[in-house]
Amino acid sequence: MLQGKKIAVGVGGGIAAYKAGDFVRELRRQGATVKVAMTKAAQEFITPLTMQSLSGDAVLTDYFDATQEEKFGHLHLARWADAYVVLPATADLLARITAGMANDAVTTSLLAFRGPVLLAPAMNTAMWDHPATQRNLAVLRATPRTHFVGPASGPLADGDVGAGRLSDLADLIEGVRGLFSGAQLAGKKVLITAGPTREAMDPVRFISNPSTGKMGLAVAEVAHARGAAVTVVLGPVGDVGSLPFEVVRVTTADEMLEAVMKRVESADVFVATAAVSDWRPQAVSAQKAKKSEGPQTLTLVRTPDVLMTASTKVQANAKRPLLVGFAAETHDVIAYARGKLTRKGLDLIVANDVSAAGAGFGVDTNVVTIIGADGSTQGAQGTKREVAARLWDLVAPKLGAS
Ligand code: CTP
Repeated sequence: MLQGKKIAVGVGGGIAAYKAGDFVRELRRQGATVKVAMTKAAQEFITPLTMQSLSGDAVLTDYFDATQEEKFGHLHLARWADAYVVLPATADLLARITAGMANDAVTTSLLAFRGPVLLAPAMNTAMWDHPATQRNLAVLRATPRTHFVGPASGPLADGDVGAGRLSDLADLIEGVRGLFSGAQLAGKKVLITAGPTREAMDPVRFISNPSTGKMGLAVAEVAHARGAAVTVVLGPVGDVGSLPFEVVRVTTADEMLEAVMKRVESADVFVATAAVSDWRPQAVSAQKAKKSEGPQTLTLVRTPDVLMTASTKVQANAKRPLLVGFAAETHDVIAYARGKLTRKGLDLIVANDVSAAGAGFGVDTNVVTIIGADGSTQGAQGTKREVAARLWDLVAPKLGAS
C-alpha cells in the first residue's frame, strides 16, 4: 500500500526522536520515498546526517539556509509529499501546530502542506495530561486531514508510567497506511461494543472481568481512520481521554444492550468486542451488605446476550448490518468460535486464544483467527491495531468498499 508513496517525516525534539530512524527505514522498505524535516530540538537527539543516510535524501533543517532552500525548500517538501507524518509530536510541536505557527523547518513545511497529516505524540505523562495539551488535541482532532496514532501507555524514558510513549513501529506504519485508505469506509456507520460490564451486588461491590477495551478501541480507531462514522458503546474502563469518534459510556449489560438496540438497525456493521459479564446478582442491595462469619451464598442470574439479541432483531431486515463477534477461548478455540458464529447468526467471528502468549486481556498485542460464515479462515497477529486493520481489510469488501 505504500509502494511509490511520497512521505514527508517531520522529526520533533523528544527522546523518542531516535525511533524516527527505524520508522523511515521501514517506510522505505515498504516502497515509500521519504524526505525528512527536523526541528532544532530534534537535532539535539538525532543528527541530520543519520536521517539523511536513512532517508537517502537531503534533510531540511533550516528554512533560512539559502542552499537548502534552493535545493529542497519547505514549500518544495509541502508540494512534493503525499502525506506528512510528525514524530515524535511533542507537546511543544502540538501547541505550535494548533496555533498555525511556522517557525522552523517542520512547522513551515507542515503549514504549507495540503494533504493528510499523521501526528504521533510522545511526551511525559504529565505534559500529555496537561489541560493545555488536551485543549490543543481537541482542536487538532477536529481539524480535517489530521489523524493521530498513539500515544501508547507504559513505562516512559523518564521513569514515569502512563500515556506518552511513542506508538510501536507497527502501529505507526499502520497509521500511515490508514492515510491512504482514508475513504475506504466513508459513509459507513460502524457500531462497536468494547470493555467489560459491571454488575452490582450492592453500592460498593460488583462482578466484572479484566477487559480493558483496547481491542474494541483499536477496531474503532482503524474504522475511523478509514472514514467510517463510529460509535463505541464502552463499558467501565476508566478515562480514555478525548477520542475522535462517538463514545457512549455504560456500566451494566442491560445498559449496553439498550444502547446497542437503539443503534444497531441503522448501522452498516456491528462489531461486538465487549467482554459482557455473563451473570449478575439476582438481588441488588440498596445498602452496603454487612459481612458475617461463614460462607455466603450469592444467587446469580444470566445477563442478556447483547450480540445475540441484536442479531435476532436484525436477521429478518431487508438491509441488515454485517455482524462480527469475538470469541475469547482458552481451549478448542476454532471449534467453539465456529459454534458461536452459527448460534449467534454472525458473518464473521474473531477467535481469540486468551491463554496464548501475547494475546488476551490488557496486553497491546493479539493473536487471532478470523472465521467467516462461508467457512473461510485467516490468521492475524501483531498489535491490536494491526489485528483491527486485518479485520477491516476483510470486512470492507463485504460492505462493497474495497
Ligand atoms: N457477547 C455479548 N453479550 C454477552 C456475551 C457475549 O454481546 N452477554 C458477545 C461478545 O461481545 C462476543 C461474543 O458475544 O462478541 C462471544 O462472547 P464470549 O464471551 O466469547 O462467548 P459467550 O457467548 O459468552 O460464551 P461462553 O462464555 O460460554 O464461551
